[in-house]
Amino acid sequence: MTNETGDLKTTASTEGGLVETLRWRDQALELIDQRRLPGALEYVRCESAQAVAEAIRNMVVRGAPAIGCTAAYGVAVEALRLQAESPGSFAEQLHLGVKVLEASRPTAVNLFWALRRMQAVWASLGQRPPTQVAERLLSEAHAIKEEDIAVNRAMGDRGAALLPDEGVVLTHCNAGALATAGHGTALGVIRSAVDMGKRISVVADETRPFLQGARLTAWEMVQEGIPVTLITDNMAGHLMQQGEIQAVLVGTDRVAANGDVANKIGTYMVAVLAHRHGIPFYVACPLSTIDREMATGADIPIEERPLAEVVGFDHCQWAAEGAAIRNPAFDVTPAELVTGLVTEKGVVRNPTRERIAALFDS
Ligand code: MRU
Repeated sequence: MTNETGDLKTTASTEGGLVETLRWRDQALELIDQRRLPGALEYVRCESAQAVAEAIRNMVVRGAPAIGCTAAYGVAVEALRLQAESPGSFAEQLHLGVKVLEASRPTAVNLFWALRRMQAVWASLGQRPPTQVAERLLSEAHAIKEEDIAVNRAMGDRGAALLPDEGVVLTHCNAGALATAGHGTALGVIRSAVDMGKRISVVADETRPFLQGARLTAWEMVQEGIPVTLITDNMAGHLMQQGEIQAVLVGTDRVAANGDVANKIGTYMVAVLAHRHGIPFYVACPLSTIDREMATGADIPIEERPLAEVVGFDHCQWAAEGAAIRNPAFDVTPAELVTGLVTEKGVVRNPTRERIAALFDS
């Protein structure tokens, strides 16, 4: 991975939204280094599956749809890297590359969804020479990226209708352009509502410990002139009690077949509070994030991340030494707390196994 430092204002290019989270340049994948935002806008260049997997694991890129798109490019870039090999060696090494990508992060199902799609395309090519396989895999990765933007726009249109003409929407983590190929899921709905003329302002939970809300969501909203107020995670209940929040809208990393929602740690707390205060709790969820093989949320693997993320940030450590530490990165909100799943095919109100199945069959 190599870094290319750019000026924040001049290099933020627009593609289907505010920023180009991932881009294909000179036969390599370039990713905004989200660990450095909002202080710097740097692209990290990846030229192998190994480098792409590292970028996913280390949170250079994060957010379920963005992870899926990135993994697809990871397969493509590896195929290009190996295309001069003999067919046998090409196949053997590309399989290993897919395995490395699969092991990068466990919770976001989009990673596995995208890898399965790339493998299906590869399988459909039979004994074609490696150069042709690599070319076809790259075009599939481009297609996955373009589809992601289109899906987010469709979700935006459907979800915007759920929001009031004027009001405050609380969000948790970052489900914006940075978490996708463009436009965003939860923030995409807010963008679409604002484009429709609705007067929406955002309350962004800081989102401990990785600060996706403070660093990424607040940055995206400020860049676009959508009013945003940043709070620490423990302030959400107070604002709800004061009548200051009209809706909650979050993204998701995996939705089980029964509608249970895995999302960034702290989401469950927000959902319980929203229920207590009669505030609608919406989840923006592309179909690629619904895992129909996962019966309930109890089966969703919850990533445990490095303990260093809890005791400090960057080079600053504030926690006392000696205490045991936990860092589960996601939690599961039971379906009964979800007012609606916003998908590109429509809104599933009060999601159940049957309603989700019906959506796929429609
Ligand atoms: O650990 P992260 O930053 O990858 O977690 C991201 C989230 O939890 C998002 O809310 C989720 O992926 C939806 S992104 C559209």
